[in-house]
Amino acid sequence: MAEEQSEQTVTPWEVFTKSETGIDYDKLIRDFGSTRIDEALINRIEKATEKPVHHHLRRGVFFSMRDLETILTLYEQKKPFFLYTGRGPSSEALHLGHLIPFIFTKWLQDTFDVPLVIQMTDDEKFLVKDNLPLEEANRLAHENAKDIIALGFDINKTFIFSDVEYISFSRDFYMNMCKIQKHVTFNQAKGIFGFGPSDNVGKICFPATQAAPSFSSSFPEIFHGNKDVPCLIPCAIDQDPYFRMARDVAPKLGYQKPALIHSTFIPGLRGMQSKMDASGDPNSVIFVTDSDEQISNKIKKYAYSGGGTTAEEHKKTGGDCGKDVSYQYLTFFMEDDSKLEQIKQNYTSGKLSTGDLKAELISVLQKLISGHRQKRERVTDLMVKKFMSPRKLNYPY
Ligand code: TYM
Repeated sequence: MAEEQSEQTVTPWEVFTKSETGIDYDKLIRDFGSTRIDEALINRIEKATEKPVHHHLRRGVFFSMRDLETILTLYEQKKPFFLYTGRGPSSEALHLGHLIPFIFTKWLQDTFDVPLVIQMTDDEKFLVKDNLPLEEANRLAHENAKDIIALGFDINKTFIFSDVEYISFSRDFYMNMCKIQKHVTFNQAKGIFGFGPSDNVGKICFPATQAAPSFSSSFPEIFHGNKDVPCLIPCAIDQDPYFRMARDVAPKLGYQKPALIHSTFIPGLRGMQSKMDASGDPNSVIFVTDSDEQISNKIKKYAYSGGGTTAEEHKKTGGDCGKDVSYQYLTFFMEDDSKLEQIKQNYTSGKLSTGDLKAELISVLQKLISGHRQKRERVTDLMVKKFMSPRKLNYPY
């Protein structure tokens, strides 16, 4: 109840704030107990990798972390680590928000040259959704894998797995799930996830399934039998509760705590109060399968504007980039820093109209999404099968 009245709610199932300027991420860092990524850490990443960081890091899209320094130290010492991220397959295709962790994970894989496991939680989506048959969730896992593969992950270094398929295959994965379950009481799970008396018991057990891939011992065949390869998890910050739990349990099992790097949320088209969400209002979501026309229509019609109510007023008082969804989307997808800064200045001063700002965004997104559509069409069933088959990943341990 208290949760409903609070200024903002961020859980794996709901992201909402009353504020027109969006989630208060400083508050979230305080509430979750993570650490803000500062300039010094960014400089250290650039020094270690000898290349500029991704614009998502530079602009604070990835803004928070746990133990990222430890991973960096390993990299500096030429010691191994692996990446773990995931997707809950509840819709036919990914939306723009889902792209963020995957685009960034691809950059991490390329930059650090490390293996990656991607969990498709078909079981989770079956358990939490009212009308999604398990067979359908499993089919969507394979469909969504196409979008993920289209982003260009290295087939020799990436394993994508559906929970329902991999758990029935891997004794070690299931053993880790059991070990995690045994170390989390119902009260702890309730405290972390807010479960109530009418939640089905599958939901209550599920967090152990999302925690298990944080430990390389869940994948002996992938990591050449190596059981203690440290893990770094890129995700939006709504997934943090699962990994707070994984980090609490890890020492009890003699495992290393997974490190995390968290992103902010792409808001829904209708405003900064909620994240873009496949299960929410369809007019607030841009899917990676949308046509050029759909992208243009949705942005023109629904993208919340921080501009003046009339053209006259806008010229006089300018726009508010903090509330303007189109501007916010550009911060995620426009790579050119100086162009973005110019747009910000012109919109803030009123020189650039809302219509022109939206036109800029439409052109950036149509380019991004049509490129993605073409790459997705080239992903064959055979490629999906290969990415999803358990096998040794390329990595010199
Ligand atoms: P899912 O399918 O809800 O989301 C997949 C990934 O996208 C992030 N995300 C967003 N990022 C930015 N803006 C948004 N509007 C937005 N909406 C979603 C999510 O945080 C996530 O990183 N239970 C998970 C699947 C999962 C997972 C993981 C995710 C399993 N293991 C490990 C991350 C890391 C889920 O349903 O994600």
